[in-house]
Amino acid sequence: MDLSTRYLGLSLRNPLVASASPLSRNADGVRRLADAGVGAVVLYSLFEEQLRREAEHDERMATQGSESYAESLSYFPEGLENGGGGHRYLRLVERAAAAVDIPVIASLNASTPGSWARYARSMQDTGAAAIEVNIYHLPGDPGPTVLDGAAVEQRHLDVLAAVKAATTVPVAVKLSPYFSATADMAHRLDAAAADGLVLFNRFLQPDIDPETLTTVRTVTLSTPADTRLPLTWIALLCARIRASLAASTGVEHAADVAKYLLAGADVVQSASALLRHGPEYAGVLLNGLCDWMNRKGFHTLNEVRGLLAAPDQDFEARERADYVWALRKANNGSYDTY
Ligand SMILES: Cc1cc2nc3c(=O)[nH]c(=O)nc-3n(C[C@H](O)[C@H](O)[C@H](O)COP(=O)(O)O)c2cc1C
Repeated sequence: MDLSTRYLGLSLRNPLVASASPLSRNADGVRRLADAGVGAVVLYSLFEEQLRREAEHDERMATQGSESYAESLSYFPEGLENGGGGHRYLRLVERAAAAVDIPVIASLNASTPGSWARYARSMQDTGAAAIEVNIYHLPGDPGPTVLDGAAVEQRHLDVLAAVKAATTVPVAVKLSPYFSATADMAHRLDAAAADGLVLFNRFLQPDIDPETLTTVRTVTLSTPADTRLPLTWIALLCARIRASLAASTGVEHAADVAKYLLAGADVVQSASALLRHGPEYAGVLLNGLCDWMNRKGFHTLNEVRGLLAAPDQDFEARERADYVWALRKANNGSYDTY
């Protein structure tokens, strides 16, 4: 079965992409993912906070007159050769890109456009095939500096513009699921030349333990129930924007990969399932996808992709009808349970 496809203008051997997670924290991890069969790997993110600490460190080193490492490379931004997280990240990009023959996508975790755009350039120069900008920002500050919706959206566009200006490789934007008008945001990013949109990131949502009276800050792995929101938006955006669409969240079985492709995803990313079962589980997902395609008589991904995207005509009327129909069904006692 030929699963080859395109994402962000890159050729991929298949549409399963390892999304940013601790599995890609070192070159060995990236190699294991590639050996397991994924079409591309997104490295874990370099965090903006880390860059800030880096800059402070650089400044301290500069004022102390410290010497830089002899091995410093010209494509490392000024200051990076002094070591630290940014330096290690670029080394990882370089090693990972050399270790595997699939695209390695570097990830920047940014909340504001800023000097870190230079890191995007360095990621490209060290071998990243593309940059995924993970705009993780919770505009929850209740103080006078609280951002309104327009400012949050503009921030996304500014971050994209800064990274695009600094690089020539494709740039994908990984979005939060929480916009008042997701389609509008997607269209504006598309118009601003985003090469791809990743729908969606998962926010850390702290829990509360009423016994210990503490806040529990932990990452909860996703379940297939979490596919519904990205599935909805991918079905709505398929063929309506030029940028590639990557589905992210909730993949556990090959059927979840199939659903996202049917909705219109160009690629399907997985983190939780690969963390839960190990990188080799990528092979299980890919075999399952091939089995499903065989059973359904599909020969290529083009036959699958977008088959169940939202239809063009009478969209609002249809959406309202679906909503009313689903509620009527639920009122009659018919609903899904997980
Ligand atoms: C432990 C863990 C670490 C993650 N680290 C990152 C990261 O560094 N950058 C990023 O953009 N997303 C990160 N993510 C989010 C995943 O890439 C993915 O978008 C999200 O988990 C939804 O996909 P999933 O349901 O397949 O896990 C992380 C997720 C997990 C579970």
